[in-house]
Amino acid sequence: MEGITDRSFRHLIVECIAPGSVAMTTTEFVRVSQTPTPLAELVKVLGDKPANTKTGIQLMGNDVDILVESARRAAEAGADFIDYNFGCPAPRVFKHGAGSALLARPNLIADIIAASKAAVDVPVSAKIRSGIEHDSNIEDMCKQIEDAGADLIIIHGRLKTDRYTDPADWSRITRAVNAVNIPVHGNGDAVDSATIQKMIDETGCAGVMIGRGALNNPWIFDEWANNTPRRSPSDFFKWLQLYAQRMADGDATPTQVLGKLKQAAKAMGPAGNIPFEHSLLRGNDFFGELKHLLSKDLA
Ligand SMILES: Cc1cc2nc3c(=O)[nH]c(=O)nc-3n(C[C@H](O)[C@H](O)[C@H](O)COP(=O)(O)O)c2cc1C
Repeated sequence: MEGITDRSFRHLIVECIAPGSVAMTTTEFVRVSQTPTPLAELVKVLGDKPANTKTGIQLMGNDVDILVESARRAAEAGADFIDYNFGCPAPRVFKHGAGSALLARPNLIADIIAASKAAVDVPVSAKIRSGIEHDSNIEDMCKQIEDAGADLIIIHGRLKTDRYTDPADWSRITRAVNAVNIPVHGNGDAVDSATIQKMIDETGCAGVMIGRGALNNPWIFDEWANNTPRRSPSDFFKWLQLYAQRMADGDATPTQVLGKLKQAAKAMGPAGNIPFEHSLLRGNDFFGELKHLLSKDLA
């Protein structure tokens, strides 16, 4: 997720849970437009890969040759797989014919996948939304992606026109699963171990992609895979401290670190995992405020 799943975040998620609880993680999207992405940028985005999981680089663009060269470099950078973003609904992305705009051009999606498969030895996946304004093309779209040689489809149960507050329609995931023989991972509103399991049971998907749920609760994968109990607020506190340290050890500025901590607090707080008051978002003393709110728990 753009602005969230940076290398510190991905690393920490995997490190803090039992080995093997996350099968794969993906970078934030890398926007590819006029020229292929420089290798150095891809190396930086990927970071050092955590053990016991596959790490992919996600690319987003619409020019076959430029994307394929970027994919080749992403594989050279060490990506375990290449994921293409055909789902981003952001107006500025859509206007430039990238992300979910490609859902209207399935032949172009197929060309990108086929050319990438010919150019790289690592698996290639396609992350799609269920359509732009309607979902009637799900089966055809998924078949075309499969025929082009994709190794995996990740389908988000929302349309481009849906808002994040609209519920994801999992029957669309079921339709994708039934349309193809390659693995399909479902995505959208799997927010805890119960909803992860429900998505698997209802749709038959081969895997579940977790987005916002991982920011609400970094142990979500562990809770599903190993049935571990919900961590305490002080565990979340320590996780945030470690996350801040990792970001600072990387190249994040203090302002960026503070911004990401506040973003995490906005997700973890309402999910009931840390106490939340607006003071957490206002000042510069994030940990002082949180410690104060947690004073009973940390005593
Ligand atoms: C802040 C934010 C950034 C996102 N960035 C990306 C991205 O870079 N690539 C991508 O494929 N999806 C991105 N998404 C979409 C998520 O991957 C996911 O499809 C969506 O949030 C629904 O899943 P969830 O209910 O598990 O969050 C983003 C979503 C949010 C909220």
